[in-house]
This record gives sequence, structure tokens and C-alpha cells, in this order.
Amino acid sequence: MGDLTGKVAVITGAGRGLGREEAIQFAKQGARVVINDIDRPEAVEAAQSAVEEIKGFGGEAMVVLGDCADSGDAENLMKSTLDAYGDLNIMVNNAGFCRDKTIFGMSDDEFDSVVRVHLRGHFVNMRNATAYWRDKAKTGVEVYGRLISTSSEAAIYGSAGQPNYASAKAGIIAMTMGAAQLLTKYGITCNVIMPRALTDMTASGQTAEMFQPPADGGFHAFDPANVAPLVGYLCSPEAAKISGEVLVVWGNSVQVLKRPTLGDSFINPKGNKKWELEDLHTSLAAHYDENYVPVWGGFSVPPG
Ligand SMILES: NC(=O)c1ccc[n+]([C@@H]2O[C@H](COP(=O)([O-])OP(=O)(O)OC[C@H]3O[C@@H](n4cnc5c(N)ncnc54)[C@H](O)[C@@H]3O)[C@@H](O)[C@H]2O)c1
Repeated sequence: MGDLTGKVAVITGAGRGLGREEAIQFAKQGARVVINDIDRPEAVEAAQSAVEEIKGFGGEAMVVLGDCADSGDAENLMKSTLDAYGDLNIMVNNAGFCRDKTIFGMSDDEFDSVVRVHLRGHFVNMRNATAYWRDKAKTGVEVYGRLISTSSEAAIYGSAGQPNYASAKAGIIAMTMGAAQLLTKYGITCNVIMPRALTDMTASGQTAEMFQPPADGGFHAFDPANVAPLVGYLCSPEAAKISGEVLVVWGNSVQVLKRPTLGDSFINPKGNKKWELEDLHTSLAAHYDENYVPVWGGFSVPPG
């Protein structure tokens, strides 16, 4: 079950946190693993220690440093992977950071840097991996391709303190769904995870207390290692038909996000005509009646 022997997996931002656990998971399933992280001393050290840990249990791994959102670095990641291991089968876009602020206090740089690392970071590596797979498929060779994107529940619950991050994470879903549609004919799957885990990203701020391990030493629901098996499974041969899904994962649970559907619809009571404001009001005021609660009772519900 889940055998990835001979397969090659690239994970961005895999020196620490969720990416590191995913790298270890893939290596345990037999894959050769490329650990990417940013070229900064503590990240380099973390990436190297992840490789050592994998080699320690007989796995195969290497580090390729670089900024996940830089086109040149992403090209180098792809080239180094192909030079060393001769193929690419699994691309996990995971790297990122937060710069949390409310919308009225956020600077251009806080917005741009977070959208860049997450959304552009997904884009450049997704483009390179999918182009490689499509070109390979066109030569008539059977392709084993698995794409995993890392979104967040912030994308669907609003997240008032993260207008940059929430927007990037929503864009990642849209981008991945498009890739899933394009690549299904080649048997390549593309899925999105929305994890929750105690990592550097969540160790301070509003999640810090909620994500702590239980004092009695019981099951630590927010151990990032709890997320990795789902990623390993989605990338396995057994999950070949699962594609275009968004899965919330933490602790001992996996929840499937329902596909968006249209709700109630309204037709102009005057027939095939442009709406008049009065007619819109007649239709919508009855719908948004005294029982309606704006914002918290609508699309933007807090996690239960
Ligand atoms: N931890 C959670 O609860 C949670 C929830 C939802 C989504 N996520 C997502 O999971 C992913 C992993 O986050 P984490 O919680 O493990 O955080 P983390 O901070 O532990 O790990 C992020 C990693 O990305 C690396 N990184 C940062 N910028 C980079 C860049 N430009 N290029 C390459 N690497 C870079 C960091 O050095 C680090 O190793 C992120 O995309 C995050 O948004 C995490």
C-alpha cells in the first residue's frame, strides 16, 4: 500500500514544519525526495537535517535551495531534480510565510510578499512540473504525476487578519482546479490540502494556545506529522482516481470540502429584461429577511 519506490518527489519549504513531515512520509514510502527551502542559514540547516533524518532510516534525499517563487530558482529546482534523479513524479507546493494585518493596516509589501510566496510560488513550480509531464506524455510515455497544493481554511472562512494570505490561498484552489481539469487526460492528479498543525507559522498568535499538545501526553492533534499520511496517500498509486479535491486535514480526521454549488436563484419578475432596483429589492429583501445574519451567518462561518 502506498508504494512510491522509484518515484521522485519535490517539496518546497521542506526543511521544517509540514513540508518536512511530508518529505519524511514520501521517503518512508520509497520515493527519492528533493527538499527545497530558502537559502538562509537556519533554513539551510533545517533542510540538511531533514536529509540526514531521511538517510538515517535508509531513504534517499537531497537539498536544492532557492526561493520557491523565483522563476530562476524554480527552474534550477526542476533541473537539479532531473539531473540527480532523472524524473519528477510528485510536486508538493508547500513553502510560505505569513505577514498578518487587518486590511486597513496592511502595507503594499505585506500584501505583495505573502501573495508572491504562496500564489506565485505555487504558479512557477506548478507550471514547470505540469509542462514537464505534458511534454513527456506527448512522447507517448506513460506519466506518473501527482500535484499537491497547500491552501488553508483562511481561504474560505475569511480570516480578517490575513487579507494577503487568505487571498493567496483562495487563488491556489482556483489554480489547482484548472490544472486538475487540464491534466486528467494524462492520468495526472491535482489536489489541495487545508492543514492545521503546530509549526513555526502557528506557534504564536491566535492559534498558539489552541494548537498546543495535551498536557497529559495524549494524542497531539496538531502534530504536523498527522497531515503527512494523507499527502502520501494522495500521491500513491491507490489514489489514482482522486483529483480536483480540497481536503481539510489535521489530527485523526480528513474532511472533504463540498464542491461549490449555486444556492437560491431569482429571476426578474418582469421577465426577459434588465433588472430595475425595485424588482431586485422585492426579490432579495424577502430572501435576506429578519432571520438573516450578515457575515457570520453567511459565507464566512468560523470553523466548528
Ligand atoms: N500550520 C498550519 O496550521 C497551516 C494551516 C494552513 C495552511 N498551512 C500552510 O502549510 C504550509 C507549510 O506551513 P508550516 O505550517 O509548515 O510553516 P513553517 O513555517 O513551519 O514552514 C514553512 C517553510 O517554508 C520555508 N519558506 C519560506 N519562504 C520560502 C521561500 N520563499 N522559498 C522556499 N521556502 C520558503 C520556510 O523556511 C519553512 O521551512 C504553508 O503553505 C502554510 O500556509 C499551514
